[in-house]
Amino acid sequence: MQRKPLFVIGLLMLAALVLAGCPAPAAPAPTGEAAAPGAVTVQAMLASNPREFDNAAVAYCAEQTGINIEVINGPESATDRLALYLQFFGAQSGDIDIIQMDVIWPGILAEHLADLNPYLEQEGVDIGMYFDRIVQNNTVDGALTGLPWFTDAGILYYRSDLLEKYGFDGPPETWAELDEMATAIQEGERAEGNPDFWGFVWQGNSYEGLTCDALEWQVSWGGGEIVEPDGTISINNPQAAAAFDMAASWVGRISPPGVVSYQEEDARGVWQAGNAAFMRNWPYAYALGNAEDSVIRDAFGVVPLPKGEGPDARNADTLGGWQMAVSRYSSNVDAAAKVAICMAGMEGQKIRATQGSMLPTIGALYEDEDVLAANPFFSQMYDVFAGGAVARPSTVTGELYNEVSTIYFTEVNRTLTGQQTGQQAVENIEAQLQDLLR
Ligand code: GLC
Repeated sequence: MQRKPLFVIGLLMLAALVLAGCPAPAAPAPTGEAAAPGAVTVQAMLASNPREFDNAAVAYCAEQTGINIEVINGPESATDRLALYLQFFGAQSGDIDIIQMDVIWPGILAEHLADLNPYLEQEGVDIGMYFDRIVQNNTVDGALTGLPWFTDAGILYYRSDLLEKYGFDGPPETWAELDEMATAIQEGERAEGNPDFWGFVWQGNSYEGLTCDALEWQVSWGGGEIVEPDGTISINNPQAAAAFDMAASWVGRISPPGVVSYQEEDARGVWQAGNAAFMRNWPYAYALGNAEDSVIRDAFGVVPLPKGEGPDARNADTLGGWQMAVSRYSSNVDAAAKVAICMAGMEGQKIRATQGSMLPTIGALYEDEDVLAANPFFSQMYDVFAGGAVARPSTVTGELYNEVSTIYFTEVNRTLTGQQTGQQAVENIEAQLQDLLR
């Protein structure tokens, strides 16, 4: 089978990335050497910055299926990635066969994706092995738009060595405790000669990641879920406003002023250099923090994010995660579906879980010895990972979710940068959502 013209992809990506102000992506890396010459090739748009475990899983599936898998690196930001996918799909481009789809996108992308149900049957895969909540999430009008590939939940990383050094018994249970510990540790570390040390790093940039962080703050204060599952727009409430004011008060005090433009990797950069006491991030940072050359190896732990204040205060961790989806415009839907099934299959997920702490979507893998040995926190936080995380309102708002999220993260970011109060933010978000969802 002939390879498809890559220049079309290149042009579209370049255009999209230049628009988004991102550096151009690396050239596609053919990773299917194991497959026979002349075998079918599928193109998959995956991680922006593939790590060893990404390549290992792709190589495994190329070998298993006999299909060449050409990996194209997608944008890092979920917001930019969605814009790029919509450009491809808008042109009904057959240049990308497989995409990784965020857990919030089935309602937006369903019309462009192949239903994977028949392929699962053909390959004899039991859909029952996957977390049901994610299968439901990915099912739109009876069609399975994507296979659960890995799940995600926002978690709190803490420096166990520094908590001990400053006399704290354990990680914070409330944001007020986090603030107190972060302040003390930051002062102490700076006084000892590290001017770059900060108390708490997180994701404050105006993009999808901020929707995840801000939803955690507001739910932890009992401030509702923006738009409730029954469609009620609940954002305008004092608890949500107080949660945003709390986060704004961190900026420049216990969090770097630049946190208002941080994405995941910016936060991890500070944390991984040993320059933060706490970090909010996804589980992927666990394996990287414990890598052999890491300065924080064995010096940190993870727990659910802290609670806010008020009668409905609780721990809240946003549900994230990615699916393997196949483009309806692919000329190789069959081959692409086989690859997607392998990537999201037991072994494909095990490689990524053991080497990269990517959370499996298959319950049985949380009992696998190798997976648990690499990630002791998987069992400790199983309840969060298997169903307890808070979903963004993507099912109820469907194809409009991206607009909802954009309104939300834009207004929250304006609060973080001191342009408005939490109360003004919740009022502005409410007014815009009423217009949009009316
Ligand atoms: C992670 C999550 C994803 C979320 C994104 C935001 O990749 O898995 O669901 O949308 O972060 O930055």
